[in-house]
Amino acid sequence: MEINYQETSKDLLKRIDIHETYGARNIDLWNTEVLQPKPGYKILDVGCGAGKQCFLYSDYTKGQADVTGGDFSEELLGKARAKLDERGDKNVRFQFLDFNKPFAFEANTFDFVSSAFAIYYASDLQFTFGEAHRVIKPGGRLFVTGPLPENKQMFYDIIKEASNQDIPPMPGSSRFKGDIFNTISAFFSHTELLTFENPLTFPQVAPFVEYVRASLSEDRKLWTSMFNGKEEYEALISKIEQVATRWFERDGKLVMTKVVGGILATK
Ligand SMILES: C[S@@+](CC[C@H](N)C(=O)[O-])C[C@H]1O[C@@H](n2cnc3c(N)ncnc32)[C@H](O)[C@@H]1O
Repeated sequence: MEINYQETSKDLLKRIDIHETYGARNIDLWNTEVLQPKPGYKILDVGCGAGKQCFLYSDYTKGQADVTGGDFSEELLGKARAKLDERGDKNVRFQFLDFNKPFAFEANTFDFVSSAFAIYYASDLQFTFGEAHRVIKPGGRLFVTGPLPENKQMFYDIIKEASNQDIPPMPGSSRFKGDIFNTISAFFSHTELLTFENPLTFPQVAPFVEYVRASLSEDRKLWTSMFNGKEEYEALISKIEQVATRWFERDGKLVMTKVVGGILATK
């Protein structure tokens, strides 16, 4: 399955900012609690975007882990490198990596490979997780996070009510517990599914609408079946805003719960 999905730094950074501002829990803490990176570890983050997880591992190990971030978006790699220049970590690097192509690393290289909200867009799961397995050391781990089907129910309910349309199936959530979990567990000796819930409480309608814009944006190519061009996009957003306002007046707040799955596998 070919998934024509793109991410822009503007939309990605906006969503990260909204998670941090309105979320009750911090997904980064969960990530490091699960993985507990150690000094001396060699780590690969696949689909690293602007480098969030790479900097997290570097900070957690006080600059003592060797961290590589790979992504196929030159725009996001540029953001990650600019942040790296600012921070000055000597143990972190960013490089081009398309997870639908062979990974440019020797077998048995990494203590763990992580991928946050990224690798589940792979076109051929067998191929991509085969590559992840190959580059992990024996006894090393893979940690893949992504949305579970119950993720962001309120967001989808509001969009559905506003648009009267079926929501395009999200490539991640629909196959996370099924195909993705099964593919990983066929390669690895032990695989488990962890979950993380983070309620985002919006005290006004405006930040929720900002979140919607950063999710539905035409640039991401995920939602384009719901609108044609700028005018239809703005009309849809305005309907979503009306429904969200009605929900807000009824409940006094808008709560959208992120329900994240983490597949943790050991080679
Ligand atoms: C939702 S973002 C997550 C980024 C980062 N892990 C984070 O949590 O902030 C998904 C990332 O997957 C990357 N991506 C999508 N398809 C890819 C591919 N075929 N190869 C490598 N990266 C890809 C995108 O460029 C984007 O950076």
